[in-house]
Amino acid sequence: STPSLLILPGDGIGPEVMTEVRKIIDWYGAKRDLQFDVSEDLVGGIAYDKHGVPLTDETMAKAQEADAVLLGAVGGPQYDNLDFSLKPERGLLRLRKEMDLFSNLRPAQCFDALADFSSLKRDVVAGLDIMIVRELTSGVYFGEPRGVSVNANGEREGVNTQRYTESEIARVARSAFELAKRRGNKVCSMEKANVMESGVLWREVVQEVHDKEYPEVELSHMYADAGGMQLCRWPKQFDVIVTDNLFGDLLSDVAAMLTGSLGMLPSASLGAPMENGRPKALYEPVHGSAPDIAGQGKANPIACILSFAMALRYSFDQGAEADRLEAAVEKVLAEGLRTADLMGPEGGTPVSTSQMGDAIVAALDAS
Ligand code: NAI
Ligand code: MG
Repeated sequence: STPSLLILPGDGIGPEVMTEVRKIIDWYGAKRDLQFDVSEDLVGGIAYDKHGVPLTDETMAKAQEADAVLLGAVGGPQYDNLDFSLKPERGLLRLRKEMDLFSNLRPAQCFDALADFSSLKRDVVAGLDIMIVRELTSGVYFGEPRGVSVNANGEREGVNTQRYTESEIARVARSAFELAKRRGNKVCSMEKANVMESGVLWREVVQEVHDKEYPEVELSHMYADAGGMQLCRWPKQFDVIVTDNLFGDLLSDVAAMLTGSLGMLPSASLGAPMENGRPKALYEPVHGSAPDIAGQGKANPIACILSFAMALRYSFDQGAEADRLEAAVEKVLAEGLRTADLMGPEGGTPVSTSQMGDAIVAALDAS
């Protein structure tokens, strides 16, 4: 049957970049006979405006049913003073939590045409293609006990707890090994086993999952601080990096800056397999709603388009078509087309959001 895709454009530039993704989806339908059962719904501030909540139960239920969810971005200054539970971000957090999306995939890919855009030297990043897998539903952001209180000495004390169970570590490790098999067959696991008990367990469990289930994948371990150094020194030594929630938050932001603009970065968050074997999945660009440029045709749609490419690869078993879409993006960049965020000192042809989308469709046509 036709796979289903739920589109949640959200706020700010979300709807603008999603319009360009729609062009790509239409192209696949018309030219490659790849059909999707696409539906669209509200999330974030726009859902609050219409329904008084950032995500309705109905939309949540649709997301649970869909083969994949593609989200634009949420948020905006007009919602900053809302009650915590009504803020646009709560809509996104509810999706991630109720879908139990424990494996967050953040690729750091450096297109040759943008290598001078990186904060590092061209030869360190050109052609870079690594994947950071961050555990997303546990660890120090969720562990109990937590809170700020006054301790026995009458001093205020802030507490968080890093807590990981064996099964939480094992499932994200499996997700990393599965990815590695489809890529460079190499996983580097990062923790701080030298100073953290949860890190000791992390290392043990990742090694056990490897030895029992994925002995053919090359596994190494690294302390997360050293990992940060290596990411900046010679990132091409890595293929897949798997790490916990906190270290993954930090390391994926570091890796993001290896590749240039926020407008280029896709992500995927995967959960357990559904009955049809597909994982629960939410795809979204890393960037936010960019209220400073919303409504001006300035947004770079590539992060959202590459998020759809990830959906093709990880939800719809269309790896070759995902390659085709990534190659089309690479081609328009090589031709010098640049949205404002990509305009560096070396110049280029300035294009709007929709011109970028059209150019990628044209490149697909030529593929
Ligand atoms: P942001 O990512 O929206 O913007 C940061 C800077 O990058 C801005 O100067 C923006 O113009 C630029 N930028 C971002 N995406 C771009 C694109 N596709 N093309 C060109 N330029 C782009 O982060 P910021 O400003 O901190 O937050 C704005 C709003 O977005 C806030 O309400 C925030 O809560 C929300 N947000 C939502 C996220 C999500 O939906 N996943 C993630 C981060 C922030
Ligand atoms: Mg972060």
